[in-house]
Amino acid sequence: MIHTGRHFLQIPGPTNVPDRVLRAMARPVIDHRGPEFAALTREVLEGLRPVFGTIGPVAVYAASGSGASEAALVNTLSPGDRVLIFETGHFSQAWRHLAERLGLKVDYIPGNWRRGASEDDLEVRLTSDGGHMCKAVILVHNETSTGVTSRLSEIGPVLKRLGHPALLIVDAVSSLASMEYRHDEWAVDVTVCASQKGLMVPPGLSFNAVSEKALARSRTAKLPRNYWDWQDMFKQNQSGFFPYTPATSLLFGLREALQMLREEGLTEVFRRHRRHADATRAAVRAWELKIVCEDPREYSSSMTAVFMPEGHDADRLRKIILEQFDMSLGAGLSRLAGRVFRIGHLGGFNDLMLVGTLSGIEMGLRLAGVPHKDGGITAALNVLAPSHTALETPV
Ligand SMILES: Cc1ncc(COP(=O)(O)O)c(C=O)c1O
Repeated sequence: MIHTGRHFLQIPGPTNVPDRVLRAMARPVIDHRGPEFAALTREVLEGLRPVFGTIGPVAVYAASGSGASEAALVNTLSPGDRVLIFETGHFSQAWRHLAERLGLKVDYIPGNWRRGASEDDLEVRLTSDGGHMCKAVILVHNETSTGVTSRLSEIGPVLKRLGHPALLIVDAVSSLASMEYRHDEWAVDVTVCASQKGLMVPPGLSFNAVSEKALARSRTAKLPRNYWDWQDMFKQNQSGFFPYTPATSLLFGLREALQMLREEGLTEVFRRHRRHADATRAAVRAWELKIVCEDPREYSSSMTAVFMPEGHDADRLRKIILEQFDMSLGAGLSRLAGRVFRIGHLGGFNDLMLVGTLSGIEMGLRLAGVPHKDGGITAALNVLAPSHTALETPV
């Protein structure tokens, strides 16, 4: 089938890369040990801080998000250390596997893949850990497999209140630059992120925002590391360089994306994502399909995962939508495979892209013979354009 117009990339990342970012990368590669590159590094490292909500250092790796996850652990922990991980879905599972492979002992707090990490569970676990055996608490802020966002602003303070010395390590891969995030204020020690979601850059860069406490821990942490070592990285970064060849072209893209975020303003970026998420859920409810996230306080602003009616295959629906309308939707992951499809509404995105996305889904539901009610698009439009009074100045 020949497709015309633009592909709709509505998976929850990689996201659509804005033309401005693509153009910023379309330039000759420069000397990564020259003065132009040093200026670029400084600008990017400064520009990242407000996005993470930190005044501390941010390490930038030429790697996908999984690399930055590994960096967070090998810089702060020693073989045999105990860590606590909340089961939230596929990506919390990936953290568990990573930690176990690195020789850490994992206490995995069970979850039902429809709810986020609970501050009460954390409090119970840490209160019973009088010997401070737990060295790090690890959680996925926005669980990309389920569309559930843990309420980090309530979890971070638990460690502080109990005076527990464990580090708080947070995976913000699918929340950063789409949802409010405050590394310093929420007492996060390491925030892990990647370039390909809210930051609107192609895959290939990933990040560790690092607290002073985490940096101090890295001086005694014994897990073997070389490429990921923060000390080497931060030392070289001071003069604008990296300990090895950085992803120069992607950094030009990141500089442009950070400029775009500044122009829009983070408050507005978060409001836009919330509004698109509201409109998406309005459509899903009108279709009478079930949202995976159980608790409205944990709804994700960056993506929505939707259950298929019993006996209907999500992958068949996605295939039909891809073939007929040239749109990619996210697949159900691990135990949700075939049962769930995921709608990405994050990154460089606007009202009409959302309406196109939801229209593609509604048409797909019809063609695939999936039982649903009509009216999802109207429900979404009612959120996006409630009435003419929603405009401050009439047009
Ligand atoms: C929450 C979360 N953590 C970690 C990852 C892994 O990142 P990557 O695929 O860039 O290695 C992803 C990828 O989608 C993610 O969504």
